[in-house]
Amino acid sequence: MAVILAMAGSAIGLGNIWRFPYMLGEYGGFAFVLIYIVATLLVSLPVFVAEVVIGRRSRCNARDAFVRLAPGHSGFWRITGLLPVLIPTIIASYYSVIGGWSLEYLVKAFQGVFSSLSPEQSAGIFSGFISSTWTPIVMHLLFFALCAVVVALGVKSGIELFSKFTMPVLFVLVVFIAIYSICLPGAWGGVEYIFKPDLSRMTPRTFAYAMGQSFYSLSLGMGAIITYGSYVHKNENILASSTGTAISDLTFALLAALAIMPAVFAAGIEPGAGPGLIFQSIPFIFSKMSIDMPWISGVVAVMFFLTVVVAAMTSCISLIEVVTAYLVERYHISRGKAVAAVSLVCGSAGILCSLSFGPLAGFTIGGKSIFDLFDWVASNILLLLMSLITVVFVGFVMKKDDVRDEFTNSGSLSLNRKVFPAVYFLIKWVAPVAIAVIFLTNFIL
Ligand code: PFF
Repeated sequence: MAVILAMAGSAIGLGNIWRFPYMLGEYGGFAFVLIYIVATLLVSLPVFVAEVVIGRRSRCNARDAFVRLAPGHSGFWRITGLLPVLIPTIIASYYSVIGGWSLEYLVKAFQGVFSSLSPEQSAGIFSGFISSTWTPIVMHLLFFALCAVVVALGVKSGIELFSKFTMPVLFVLVVFIAIYSICLPGAWGGVEYIFKPDLSRMTPRTFAYAMGQSFYSLSLGMGAIITYGSYVHKNENILASSTGTAISDLTFALLAALAIMPAVFAAGIEPGAGPGLIFQSIPFIFSKMSIDMPWISGVVAVMFFLTVVVAAMTSCISLIEVVTAYLVERYHISRGKAVAAVSLVCGSAGILCSLSFGPLAGFTIGGKSIFDLFDWVASNILLLLMSLITVVFVGFVMKKDDVRDEFTNSGSLSLNRKVFPAVYFLIKWVAPVAIAVIFLTNFIL
């Protein structure tokens, strides 16, 4: 059970609250949401199941899992198996920068900064913060250190248990903020932006980015679910827990969008404003709230950012855990040393990502800042590539009987026995074709 919680903890994070709203704002509104939902149910969920199958069957870290299950071709899988080590390293580097922003906003909420702010003042506070050199770096390192300590001490189950309480709180807060946000004057445009059928903003990019977002949000293609899958108990129902995780993740993302987008419209912020979207719109909501409901707005603001930080931590912890598990099992070093090595690499790379909003803003590669480049390479290229390899592995390399065995707990789950052919078809044929097309689209765009 703790592992299932850990998987949900890994999936639900900044990807839902921070990334989903700004991606949908930038890449197609309703069209983005539609493709995201379809992709989650038809492609990402089968990939999720495939990762859990690989993890539970192999019972080892993400890289060696492939080698262990396909001994005949170990050379090839040894190389591709390195991707689940590389990708989390890249993502953890920039993810912790946004984790640091959340931490800074938690401090600001404590200080009561979010009262009576105009949209311009909210935007000014945000741009002043991210463009400065030191504070975002210190916050990034602090956030990373908090996650690293949890991984080094091996107290993940502690934090997962903790998140068992904070997640429902975050859920209630997001619902509350969404209702409040929708009621703001001028907010309805935001609701329409998400739900009013309008495919005019759909471009080939909408497909690529919505699919990438769906994978990102479910922590796919980077070994996290394989690693956690290796801890899943033999009696656990893989299909039920994967579906539960995917549905809660989807719900969280849609609710977060409903909390953010109406406020974006009410405040007159540009929906395509990029990664800063929630950090500009949420303070605006709290300032309004401080006038309408002065007795609770401060508490809601603190609790919101506190729970966001915890959600971000559980996700970042799973990223660090993937690389740590690999280093410990492979090189027989202590957890402490492995975590120190990961921290050194991700901490330094994260500093560059952080600076790309300030002193290094002018430095671009292929038109992308360092932060954007990290995100794009990981989410739109490597993550899709690894997911493609994963489904091909389960569909074509693993024996069908072995996959069925994992899926049905050796035939004992009757419902799973019935749906197995459909899920297997999605894993073997639908997912690879969809991912390959989207993957290629990224290069043509
Ligand atoms: N799924 C996380 C989120 O939505 O915030 C991000 C993430 C965590 C991605 C862990 C990848 C991962 F391995």
